[in-house]
Amino acid sequence: MNQEKVIVIDFGGQYNQLVARRVRECNVYCEIYSYKTDIEQIKAMNPKGIILTGGPNSCYETGAPTYTKELFELGIPVLGLCYGAQLMMHVLGGKVEKAPVREYGKTAVMVDKTSALFGNVAETTICWMSHFDYISQIAPGFAISAHTADCPVAAAENRDKKLYAIQFHPEVLHTQEGTKMLYNFVRGVCGCAGTWRMDSFVENSIQAIREKVGNGKVLCALSGGVDSSVAAVMLAKAIGNQLTCVFVDHGLLRKDEGDEVEEIFGPKGNYELNFIRVNAQERFYEKLAGVEEPEKKRKIIGEEFIRVFEEEAKKIGAVDFLVQGTIYPDVVESGLGGESVVIKSHHNVGGLPDYVDFKEIIEPLRDLFKDEVRKAGLELGIPEKLVYRQPFPGPGLGVRIIGEVTAEKVKIVQDADAIYREEIAKAGLDRTIGQYFAALTNMRSVGVMGDERTYDYAVALRAVNTIDFMTAEAAEIPFEVLQTVMSRIINEVRGVNRVFYDLTSKPPGTIELE
Ligand code: XMP
Repeated sequence: MNQEKVIVIDFGGQYNQLVARRVRECNVYCEIYSYKTDIEQIKAMNPKGIILTGGPNSCYETGAPTYTKELFELGIPVLGLCYGAQLMMHVLGGKVEKAPVREYGKTAVMVDKTSALFGNVAETTICWMSHFDYISQIAPGFAISAHTADCPVAAAENRDKKLYAIQFHPEVLHTQEGTKMLYNFVRGVCGCAGTWRMDSFVENSIQAIREKVGNGKVLCALSGGVDSSVAAVMLAKAIGNQLTCVFVDHGLLRKDEGDEVEEIFGPKGNYELNFIRVNAQERFYEKLAGVEEPEKKRKIIGEEFIRVFEEEAKKIGAVDFLVQGTIYPDVVESGLGGESVVIKSHHNVGGLPDYVDFKEIIEPLRDLFKDEVRKAGLELGIPEKLVYRQPFPGPGLGVRIIGEVTAEKVKIVQDADAIYREEIAKAGLDRTIGQYFAALTNMRSVGVMGDERTYDYAVALRAVNTIDFMTAEAAEIPFEVLQTVMSRIINEVRGVNRVFYDLTSKPPGTIELE
């Protein structure tokens, strides 16, 4: 596909993916590359514009991430954000120093409305600042286009060369008119037509899959989650019953979820594909018996999943293609990722290729962010209920039950979680909270019900707001809603006599309890 694109060069900022997502919201396709990417490679991609992200370093220090001056001489518009802005000035002959006043948070910025970036923006606009260095002197050929009370250069530009530097972060929502500014850059300065649209993406992908697959046989591991479901439907539409979907029910799904998946993809559903449901609950519970350590549980679930899938694949025989639900953040994280420690070993279908006889992988969602996957799902006619499904970890309820997993505990957490979800939806909060679920703590405590002493489990309710799942804050749920959930769980779920609300943010906590 000859898609016009803007390139984001990543200098290690925490918002790099957000920049790309915002650009795509302007209907412009955008990809992220490390600052280590060679200029020749950038040139070969023929981008309509380049955006340099923020980053944690000081550009004047030796060894700090940098980029060759040639980047600014290609005649391609460049927008530098925060570190990217400082670097642009530094490389082109301006000066960057430690700021006398560190700016952090929402800040009033006064902009020059004759700038192509700020034409339709209020003269004083609230922006998100986060910097300890500042541009003390702009590079030759540049003019200042915005300032704040403490920062003389909040933005600078060289209009002739289409080089723009912004000290603040237009990509974060706290910058009230940030999207307008990015739109002005990609659609205005770069002249992008805005052809990146989900309907045409879906149509083109279906066509491309048909051409690639030909008469081949395709195998897909269906989890019931958003990504694998969207991928499966896209393939089903493209190649019908040349596709076989294997759905492993590991007994760690949410209440009724296995049946819901079967309803959509099974013989009574809308698609012409071969659907195999493997009810492997007992196998998983057996393997998990007596195991308490979270990483061990994750490994067992991951490995058993592969075993079951492998057995099914063997029955099917050799296939030509294996579908993976990889999405763009996975690509970015594996391609750009540093040596960050493994906090939890995430289990996806990512480990499968070694175990299945196939020739090639198909990753139909490889270029999409999560919100785009959802849009593609809606385009494909997948029910909203499935498209807006909560993120759900591969090891499922296995990591929402602290300590040993048993069939009895799975039932408790499924029932509690179903009540919680129902009440959250009733309160109209289901689309506003990032992720929410019930988990089963390993704590049992004394209670009283009727005239009886009880000694039962405590359920923990979790709800977080998050943009990227890397950081999160506990959501503020109205107390009455929590109270209703608590009393329903205690009355309706046997084995529970206490309900907690988890207030921990991430960090220091993680979203899941294990
Ligand atoms: P944590 O608990 O690491 O969760 O803060 C961050 C996000 O990732 C999801 N999660 C997983 N997803 N396999 C997955 O596919 C996993 O093993 C896994 N563990 C956590 C979690 O639900 C949250 O959205």
